[in-house]
Amino acid sequence: MMKTHAPIIPHFDALLHGGDYNPDQWQHRPDIIQEDYRLQKLAGCNAFSVGIFAWTSYEPADGQYEFDWLDRTLDGLAAQGSRVFLATPSGGKPAWMSRKYPEIRRVAENGLRDTHKRRHNHCQSSPVYREKIAAINERLAERYAHHRALGGWHISNEYSGSCYCDGCLGAFRRWLEERYGSLDQLNRAWWTEFWSHRFTDFAEIDPRDESIDCLALDWKRFTTWITCDFMQHEIAAVRQHSDLPVTTNLMGYFDGLDYYRLAELCDFISDDNYPEWNGPDKAHIIQSVAMTHDQHRSMKQKPFVLIESTPSNTNWQSCMHHKRPGIHRLQMLQAIGHGADGAMYFQWRKGQGGFEKFHGAVVDHEGSENSRVFREVAEVGASLKQIAAARGGHVDAPAAIIYDWDARWGFELSAGPISGPKKQYVATCQAFHRPLWAGSVPVDVIESTACFDGYRLIIAPQLFMLKPGVADAMKRFVKAGGTLLMTTLSGIVNENNSCFLGGWPGDGLRELFGVWVEETDEFNDHHPVSMTFAAGNRLGLTGDFAMNANIDCVHAESAEVLATFKDGFYAGQPSFTVKESGKGRAYYLAGRCGEDALTAIVESICREAGVASCIPEKLPPGVVAQLRENESGRFYFLQNTTEQAQELQLAHAYVDLIAGDATGSVVQMPPMGSLVLKAKSD
Ligand code: GAL
Repeated sequence: MMKTHAPIIPHFDALLHGGDYNPDQWQHRPDIIQEDYRLQKLAGCNAFSVGIFAWTSYEPADGQYEFDWLDRTLDGLAAQGSRVFLATPSGGKPAWMSRKYPEIRRVAENGLRDTHKRRHNHCQSSPVYREKIAAINERLAERYAHHRALGGWHISNEYSGSCYCDGCLGAFRRWLEERYGSLDQLNRAWWTEFWSHRFTDFAEIDPRDESIDCLALDWKRFTTWITCDFMQHEIAAVRQHSDLPVTTNLMGYFDGLDYYRLAELCDFISDDNYPEWNGPDKAHIIQSVAMTHDQHRSMKQKPFVLIESTPSNTNWQSCMHHKRPGIHRLQMLQAIGHGADGAMYFQWRKGQGGFEKFHGAVVDHEGSENSRVFREVAEVGASLKQIAAARGGHVDAPAAIIYDWDARWGFELSAGPISGPKKQYVATCQAFHRPLWAGSVPVDVIESTACFDGYRLIIAPQLFMLKPGVADAMKRFVKAGGTLLMTTLSGIVNENNSCFLGGWPGDGLRELFGVWVEETDEFNDHHPVSMTFAAGNRLGLTGDFAMNANIDCVHAESAEVLATFKDGFYAGQPSFTVKESGKGRAYYLAGRCGEDALTAIVESICREAGVASCIPEKLPPGVVAQLRENESGRFYFLQNTTEQAQELQLAHAYVDLIAGDATGSVVQMPPMGSLVLKAKSD
């Protein structure tokens, strides 16, 4: 029996349902605020993020605070039994502040200071901004720390971006000094003899020079560092009075920050997720969302919160496509299945004006509970109550995919070894996740320096950079019995983005995989390449498969060859190899291939490694399951990701938690339908 994880909000034992709530915009309409409470109950909502962009309401003039409206809001929500993630307001600065203290506005790459506009654009090194945010955060914490509505702290909103003011550039140079110890060491690490870049003073270093790619990489690392430093500064102010959990809302695979570092500062992970549902292939969309959830669960190996999602459409996307019936329910239950203990929205109610007045919301401008969207949200609210026993359930994943921001940045900032548009780092990780997801195999998404213990299979797609210790951890993992699958474009540079000498994959992985990658060739449709599996190979794979984007010319030095290329000057050379080591084995896939080949390869490796679906039943194609387990049992979340009805044959006894009945041995799932089944044997 798995231990039940503690609730996200201490002592609040419920799945969270609610969203971003902006009563600060409606203070002139107390009738609407009263109506909100009625509708929130009807929608089955119990948790709200409040005050995210309310700094002008918190502090209408310098040093003058007004909290009466917030007192009323928290009292009103508490009376409903709801909980609040109270936001620190640094995501949007008041106009008076921008005018009085111009230095809080960011300086753009061209050296010009921003005007007062939009949001998420404060200077993170500005002493004034830090003073102002600490003052408001501390006041909020002092006033509400013990309020019965308070459930936790929503620190800022979607941290992002950089500033190029003298303060930030100075902070960057100090950070470099600390990281490298001396200019000599920095020059060596950055390979600065190149294009005569040797630095003789830290003051000469400018992050806008991308010709030294480790400089550009360090700017990204520094941006993460200064964001974390700012976030810690915000948290420290809150911590003066409150020890309730803190989080900041992440944005999936956002390229701008190393979220593993921000995750370290959070008590729980929260994520904003806005899939573009207008795409032709719903299953692909659902799977890419699944991988994002898998990462957020893996970050702390405990439940996270889907803190923002749209209940209908999204006004900044290229197509404002409404979710079709069933999709909303599927999306919310999918999040819970992947380990979320809450499914929340942006936004509770549409504002009358401003940039987001047409963004999807639970409550439309019409204002009543009679909309399709409201009904679907209320249905989710009711379902979350019915499946509440799954709260705190653990997801036990036998497999992991390595997704690493440093490796991604190093890869993307290097000109080569294939062209930029073909690199497709995130898409490649998603491609490897897909067969696992389709086979209902629970999978974690981890950084390269994470602990590998406990996994049976680890996949490292395009792991361009090997940070110190990663190659050794891989060797230990394989020796101890693990199965490792690594691909082309891996093991090429160290943490300074400098190429390993002595053949790829570097840092000892040439021996582990038994291969030497002599060349990497990129190709296009004029030069198609395919591979063919060797007769009688150990995985029993057969047939020919097209490659795409690039392949490696590989020497199988001590590896067994499982497949070879069929075309070009590398016809007959290895495309897929394996080498046994200790109790485990290391597979190398020497090129990017399509979904058919990846599915065949990943499925057969899973079979060999004993990595199986989480559900004993064989599901029809396009129906996927996730499993969460806690002290009260095993909960299977099933989604029909196809546009056709599907029939499930169930060999075991289950209770359909939402319908409230025991299932028969045959269950029908409508197109895009979802089910939550509890195993009856528990
Ligand atoms: C998020 C943001 C919200 C809201 C939403 C609209 O990225 O955190 O404040 O703007 O997008 O989709």
